[in-house]
Amino acid sequence: MDSSEKPRKSQKAIDNFLKQAEEVTEAVKKISGVKDPDALKKIMGIEISEAAKKLSGAEVSDAVKEITEGLLVNAEGFEKLRTRLVGRKGTITGVSRQIKDLDQIRKKIVGQKANQIRSQFEEPTKQIISDISSLKLEEKLKETAFDFTLPGKNPPVGNKHLVTQIIDEVAQIFVGLGYQVAEGPEVELDYYNFTALNTPADHPARSLQDTFYLEGVKDTENPEEAVLLRTHTSPVQIRVMEKRKPPLYIIAPGKAFRRDVADPSHTPMFHQIEGLAVDKDLSFGDLKGTLEVFVKQLFGEDRAVRFRPHFFPFTEPSAEVDVSCALCMGEGCRLCGSGWLEILGCGMVDPNVLEEVGVDSEEYGGFAFGMGVERIAVLKHGLDDIRRLYDNDVRFLEQF
Ligand code: PHE
Repeated sequence: MDSSEKPRKSQKAIDNFLKQAEEVTEAVKKISGVKDPDALKKIMGIEISEAAKKLSGAEVSDAVKEITEGLLVNAEGFEKLRTRLVGRKGTITGVSRQIKDLDQIRKKIVGQKANQIRSQFEEPTKQIISDISSLKLEEKLKETAFDFTLPGKNPPVGNKHLVTQIIDEVAQIFVGLGYQVAEGPEVELDYYNFTALNTPADHPARSLQDTFYLEGVKDTENPEEAVLLRTHTSPVQIRVMEKRKPPLYIIAPGKAFRRDVADPSHTPMFHQIEGLAVDKDLSFGDLKGTLEVFVKQLFGEDRAVRFRPHFFPFTEPSAEVDVSCALCMGEGCRLCGSGWLEILGCGMVDPNVLEEVGVDSEEYGGFAFGMGVERIAVLKHGLDDIRRLYDNDVRFLEQF
């Protein structure tokens, strides 16, 4: 039997079944009208038994079988049939209703027949309904097939930004050397950013660190009260020394700002890590040794380091420290130019700075350094452009 025959075949069985049930109803109607008991018996003998014969168990089960075979395509049709027969207004239900108006004899006979039809139909009906629902369930399961034994999906878990990772790593190294971590404000007074760091208002070094002034406060009568975005983390040196007495060994990571046009090695916002040591008998040798230990720990023993004499208003003598470029390995490229990348400035704390915060420069000396975090990222990972760090492209950032 091909599947296109299924609905027709089962529909035929359904129609057949209905017709038979209606015949029973007709018979019941006739009985209801007959008063003479003999005539009644005659009618019953003919009409009812005719109908009942048609509704014999064998015929019902044949019909049911065909309906069942046609189920997949005809479940809806079967549901209609069921309603028409045994539903609230169904044929067989109608027969049962009429019974209550009949006298005893009729009630007995018609009732028996009606029950017979009902039970003949209802038993297989139950079976068919359960078949339909299990078939429906099977189909539904096929549609929404879901394998509960499959492993779950791993939700993406973020990671620390490369800049944060480097700050943590550098802090770890210095904490190992006995340093403490300090912090200072990003929005700073001119006094801390420049003046207290031995850089008075007319000092030419200020122009190298042009910055963003907060509107309305640049042109105050006292220039030291001007409010600006700090150009380096060095003001934290002053803030720490104002509060705490030496010996001091601190590092201070944080953001710094300059009016630089963004290019592969500059962004107007960047990060620095400041270092300050103030103690008795500190020499340039201590500074050099500290930074060499640090650089080797961070980049590895194979990376070349060089100290170049330099000038900073708040250190004397001063130097800049370069590390060989990771991208060109000292050949020179668009990132480093010369083969070296400057990562920090350093020097011995100028006595003027110590005196400014009330530290006796005869008794104490110190060294300080400030390194660029993004520069370290370039050196450690061979980044070709520090602007990538701030594009917020997860595909780039998740590599680290
Ligand atoms: N603040 C300096 C800069 O931003 C770096 C520096 C820090 C130099 C401490 C010497 C001592 O360039």
